[in-house]
Amino acid sequence: MHKKAFRTLPDLEKACVSTLYKNWRSKCTIPTAGLYPFQWLWDSAFSAVGWAYIDLSRARQEFQTILDCQWKNGFLAHIVYHDDDAGKSYFPGSAFQGAGANPYAPKHVATSGITQPPNLGYCLEQVFQLDHARAEHTDFYKNTISGIFRFHAYLYRDRDPKQEYLPYIRHNWESGTDNAVQWDAIWQSFEPRQYDIQRRDTEHVNDQQRPTKKDYNYYLTLIELSKELNFDEQQMQKTLPFLVQDPLFNALLVASNESLARLALQFGMSDIANTCLQWAQKTKKAMNRKLFDPIAGMYNYYDLRNEKMIKGSGAPSMVALTAGIPNKRQAHLMKKTLQSAHYWGEDKAYFLCATNAVTATDYDSKRYWRGPVWIPTNWLIWKGCERYGFKSLEKQIKKDSLALVQHYGLFEYFDPAKSTLQDPDSTGYGGADFSWSAALILDMIQSDNANNTKSRLDLYQQI
Ligand code: DGY
Repeated sequence: MHKKAFRTLPDLEKACVSTLYKNWRSKCTIPTAGLYPFQWLWDSAFSAVGWAYIDLSRARQEFQTILDCQWKNGFLAHIVYHDDDAGKSYFPGSAFQGAGANPYAPKHVATSGITQPPNLGYCLEQVFQLDHARAEHTDFYKNTISGIFRFHAYLYRDRDPKQEYLPYIRHNWESGTDNAVQWDAIWQSFEPRQYDIQRRDTEHVNDQQRPTKKDYNYYLTLIELSKELNFDEQQMQKTLPFLVQDPLFNALLVASNESLARLALQFGMSDIANTCLQWAQKTKKAMNRKLFDPIAGMYNYYDLRNEKMIKGSGAPSMVALTAGIPNKRQAHLMKKTLQSAHYWGEDKAYFLCATNAVTATDYDSKRYWRGPVWIPTNWLIWKGCERYGFKSLEKQIKKDSLALVQHYGLFEYFDPAKSTLQDPDSTGYGGADFSWSAALILDMIQSDNANNTKSRLDLYQQI
């Protein structure tokens, strides 16, 4: 039997706090040293949710740092290379990304030219709810709401060619679910360039847990094609082979629009509130009209370049629950899917929620987003279950998430099979001491201590 990494819940809770401290770099949190040594966009917003229990000034700083690097057209980059020295441990570095040539890019810091799922508004609201000093930080909240609003405006303006209110992603890394099985269909539609580069990720992590060399050829080709167009949105829209309407990305956009609307109202920013509410409603409708699959009980992806639906299983599209997108009937179908043998296995032999159905032929228990359980998707679906009153599923997802980190430690992702725990050599996958796992597990633990926040803050300050 695998030995538990943390014997008790308080031990786990302390580790969540010390992991966030360990990964803090003067003005933001990196995901984990070595493997991801810079600021990543959606990671950073999730980290802020954890910091809200420990040090609110760091939670606010996380957003501030992201917005200090916003492009003039509202775009937010998935990586900000604050410390170029750290680049020795990561590829592709800022030179390969080459986004600085775009006239909208900031001059004071290098960034990538692709973005990540828009979870900022949603996470900002989580922080706001815990911020007992919010009255003293009105300027921060107003500026942050405006910055995130500009990001959403960019998405609807530059990435929605048919005005469907379903902005597309133009690189698989923008999905956050980098090597999901859904992209396989797109890889068959174009020839990638061949790269003989020195991968850095596989120096930190066993290569069975990472995307393959062939996958990387596609990822790097897309970056180079974009770079050759100076990351010009209109040009990329005309020619890039990857333009996808992604359900996780759009679900987080809806959730963030709703959060921004509520926050904007608190600060008398009614124009922003109204626009965000309209966007949220229109994107919800579009997701239900175009992407919902009643047979599979989940949302599909749409390949806009080739005008093709991409089917395929996986927990990421279930994040639509978090944003209140499905109606009651659709939500019940989704719940049924998650509780079926495709996710839970026979006799509940798997931890929820695998990123690919455990019965799928392309299911891979180890490789990144092609099977393993990830804490951020679990956390979001857990919140979604709360929204729909799915009490037992909500409890189960929290129980499974805690069990995984308690056994393996605060890793990046986990083997869904319960039987793997019997193997004394089994381990968590990807990076260790991972910030978003720490932050979101802390939030899950804290959800039972809703009235206890102040005393917890005092406790954490002493750690
Ligand atoms: C990586 O390098 O794997 C990142 O997820 C890309 O953003």
